[in-house]
Amino acid sequence: MTIRVGVIGAGIMGADHIRTLSRSVRGAEVVLVADLDAGRAAEAAAPAGARSSTGPEALIADLEVDAVIIASHDSTHAALVTACLAAGKPVLCEKPLAPTVEECRDLVELEGGRGLVSLGFMRRFDPSHVELRRRIADGDLGEVLTVHNISRGVRGAPDASNAFAITGSAIHELDSMPWLLGQPITEVAWLSGRKSTSLAPAGLQDPSFMLLRMADGMLVTLELFLNADYGYVTRCEVVGERGTASFTDSPLLETSTARRRSTEYPADWRPRFADAYRLQLQAWIDSLAHGTPTPLATAADGLRASQVAAALLESERSGGAFVRVAYQGTRQETGVRT
Ligand SMILES: NC(=O)c1ccc[n+]([C@@H]2O[C@H](COP(=O)([O-])OP(=O)(O)OC[C@H]3O[C@@H](n4cnc5c(N)ncnc54)[C@H](O)[C@@H]3O)[C@@H](O)[C@H]2O)c1
Repeated sequence: MTIRVGVIGAGIMGADHIRTLSRSVRGAEVVLVADLDAGRAAEAAAPAGARSSTGPEALIADLEVDAVIIASHDSTHAALVTACLAAGKPVLCEKPLAPTVEECRDLVELEGGRGLVSLGFMRRFDPSHVELRRRIADGDLGEVLTVHNISRGVRGAPDASNAFAITGSAIHELDSMPWLLGQPITEVAWLSGRKSTSLAPAGLQDPSFMLLRMADGMLVTLELFLNADYGYVTRCEVVGERGTASFTDSPLLETSTARRRSTEYPADWRPRFADAYRLQLQAWIDSLAHGTPTPLATAADGLRASQVAAALLESERSGGAFVRVAYQGTRQETGVRT
């Protein structure tokens, strides 16, 4: 059985998903691509042999489209997921589910437990994240005492703000830390320090620091630096009573020339997470083909991450105070799917 996929948004992520689906995922065919930019849609659709258009609503309604991927701007997600739910079509929405708690809550209610929404928190499929989670569960490191995250990019969007940094970027850790540690985040603090003035836009404190308190009291740190310039890096070090574990930095080559050994940094996140995107897409397609529940993050996971993000935004406004996460509105309150 082949799942016929329509992709909305043919920018960096949409084009990447189209390539991965066409080349590396079994049981899927990209049949239609929609982007407000007709040229971009056509260019991304051509190698997959798909049709292209400028109409996302028509794509969702198209009789040849069995399932939809949403890879357009964050601000479009809520309306497009709503349209997919109205059409009764399964949808893989890129993170975040939506930028606000209210939108996320509405989507969870609208979905009504039908399991149609999957969310692109692809770290859950990244082999190094999966291995780290296994080591923690196996007890190799002893009791986990703390986790340090570093998330650095080469260049953020020119209009990036603190709010975007939290809801659009740190949102990955807001999902991956509860998933990794098997417990919810209960309170958070957002802190600023010395700011990069050469590259960061006026509305962005870059780097910023976030403290996440887990339910058992553990403190988790996150340094988020969108304009780090030198390369893309995602680090995560788990510190336990009997040892530590962390990812190796770069999936790219190590080269030795002129008596110097060096490794390269990727220019963006795609090489680092290529396996994660592929495995996530395959798991999504397989679940659709077999009619089994999505193994991806769900709309409820998206709501929980947005509730943590809302607490961070409040902390940012209040100058760094610890703010408790308000989980009202999720069925499991503070529960985390493991
Ligand atoms: N999971 C990840 O690791 C990851 C990484 C980067 C981005 N993202 C998410 O993926 C999404 C896309 O990010 P990107 O970096 O590819 O952005 P992008 O700007 O490169 O591409 C977005 C595309 O969507 C199109 N678009 C915007 N509104 C649309 C609409 N209503 N209908 C159809 N097309 C529309 C734009 O014309 C553009 O081509 C965002 O939600 C972003 O947060 C996820």
